[in-house]
Amino acid sequence: MHRVMVVGASGLLGQHMMSAGTEMGLAMTGTYKTVNGEISGMVQMDITDPGSVSRGLEAACPELVVLAAAMTNVDQCEREPDEAYKVNMEGSFNVASECRSSGVKLVYISTDYVFNGLKGARYHEFESADPLSVYAMSKLEGERVTLDASRNNLVCRVSVVYGWDRLNRKSNFVTWIVDSLRKGQDIRLYDDQFVSPTYAPSAARDILELGLGKLKGICHTSGPDCLSRYDIGNMAAEVFGLDASLIKAVRTAEMPLLAKRPARSCLGVDLAESELGRSMTSLRQGLEMMRDSENSSLVDEG
Ligand SMILES: NC(=O)c1ccc[n+]([C@@H]2O[C@H](COP(=O)([O-])OP(=O)(O)OC[C@H]3O[C@@H](n4cnc5c(N)ncnc54)[C@H](OP(=O)(O)O)[C@@H]3O)[C@@H](O)[C@H]2O)c1
Repeated sequence: MHRVMVVGASGLLGQHMMSAGTEMGLAMTGTYKTVNGEISGMVQMDITDPGSVSRGLEAACPELVVLAAAMTNVDQCEREPDEAYKVNMEGSFNVASECRSSGVKLVYISTDYVFNGLKGARYHEFESADPLSVYAMSKLEGERVTLDASRNNLVCRVSVVYGWDRLNRKSNFVTWIVDSLRKGQDIRLYDDQFVSPTYAPSAARDILELGLGKLKGICHTSGPDCLSRYDIGNMAAEVFGLDASLIKAVRTAEMPLLAKRPARSCLGVDLAESELGRSMTSLRQGLEMMRDSENSSLVDEG
């Protein structure tokens, strides 16, 4: 049985990795920083503290580490750049160094935001990054330290991750849309920001399978669609049977955000699909699985 450690298992993607890994018959250890997720096998770890990282890895003795932990709030990173670099670059460096000394493969979770979004079409793994925000720059540094540490390491990029958060009940793009529409609230969604929405339970399994295989370098593991945030809202309303007339389209220029977002950061997923031998989970499929699993526990999902 393979031993896998998920750093950041209390987050949205991390919690789904823990359940996907358990379902796949892997021996899972997960880490949290502040939120003890009540999942067995969770240990406390702060990636900004090298001692904490080495103690965690020594105790779990994993054969594969997945680094899902990050400072993920894009506008907060813009406000607190020192903290963003401390977690997303230095923290990743600490994990990558420890994995290197222990001879353990590292899978680093990254983002479509490393691209500037100006290409007008999907980005593939070999294309040059050009990050627009502190979050994106610090994540790109995390990629760099991961790939520099070992030629066996893998970077998996995802985009707008969604799914039920059973541990923290923290909202994500889709749960926020569903909650708002259920309350009858008007919402405004950008119709000029295009992304590749990524269903957390599916991405968790895909990333674990790829990590346990021979793939190295960079791989795009998002959903296969390229949709505007407004399109995503409309599809969520349709699948959950909610009132789509509450959704208003807005342009980025009308409602500027603190950190710049790429206009079209959709990812090409051909490499992941050919490695896995299956299609990535589309938004419609992911939303239908979410709807059908709303009242299940974490382990029943996906
Ligand atoms: N969410 C998205 O739409 C999206 C899009 C593209 C890429 N990504 C990437 O995907 C990964 C997972 O994202 P997510 O949305 O699942 O994350 P999330 O829900 O925001 O969770 C973040 C995780 O990082 C942990 N963490 C934060 N600071 C830490 C530190 N100093 N030391 C150790 N752990 C720390 C948190 O622990 P506690 O909660 O216990 O404090 C939590 O487990 C991230 O690398 C993110 O950059 C996400």
